[in-house]
Amino acid sequence: MAMTKILEASQFILSKISKKPKVGIVLGSGLGIYIDQIQDKMIIPYQEIPHFKRTSVEGHSGALIIGEVNGVTVAALQGRLHAYEGYAMEDIVLPVRTLAAIGIEYLFLTNASGGINAEFHPGDLVAISDHINLSGRNPLVGPNIAELGPRFPDMGNAYDSEVRELLHSVAQRHHVDIKSGVYCSVLGPTYETPAEIRMLRTIGADLVGMSTVPEVIAANHLGLKVAGVACITNYAAGIKQEKLNHADVKKVAEKAMVGFATVLTETIGELNRMGKV
Ligand code: HPA
Repeated sequence: MAMTKILEASQFILSKISKKPKVGIVLGSGLGIYIDQIQDKMIIPYQEIPHFKRTSVEGHSGALIIGEVNGVTVAALQGRLHAYEGYAMEDIVLPVRTLAAIGIEYLFLTNASGGINAEFHPGDLVAISDHINLSGRNPLVGPNIAELGPRFPDMGNAYDSEVRELLHSVAQRHHVDIKSGVYCSVLGPTYETPAEIRMLRTIGADLVGMSTVPEVIAANHLGLKVAGVACITNYAAGIKQEKLNHADVKKVAEKAMVGFATVLTETIGELNRMGKV
């Protein structure tokens, strides 16, 4: 069933495009306007793609954008599905699996996160170094689809170390500050309690969010090279006495866009110069 959905969705997309993308990008909350950086683009709304679910969260409009970034054909997913919306894991990871089926080898996942590490402040960019999956979900539960990958995928380099080094060196060259940290995924949709954030800090989390990990797991299963870039949109609960809301989260992410766009666009350009894409 999952395989049929991937094949039908990917055949539909391939019938619309002339150049196969090498790089996939998932744009998180407030980061969707990155599509302004994509040249010669074709926009395909999710509702036109077989089996793609429409997103329900405000600020995640739901479209696949295919175009050029720094001379590289990319496929960007603007708007993602979250487990807290009630979607099945299989539907949440279908877009990433479909991009792999149309040829991507690198996947850049982005999100808005709460900062737990005392050094992290709203507006900061963080290259995710590793994750802790506390969502209680895993997209690979159920019979393994051997055409996609192994039963027990290795997660030792889930956020590819070479791409991470590239992100840091590109950021440094372009004078963009980017930190490094361990992302913890939770189910949501409630933000965490202060006690939960104290626990997350104790177990080694630097930032927290409600997305990304399902796609990272599915992408590693597929053997893609994965990078994660988070925008810290707020102090996690209990760190500062402020109420958390989605509107503020989106506003901060939009402000971080210039640095974010530079790092993403130039890293993709660098992969191209290195002959990797
Ligand atoms: N917690 C969980 N998810 C989030 C947060 C947060 O503080 N900020 C943005 N997404």
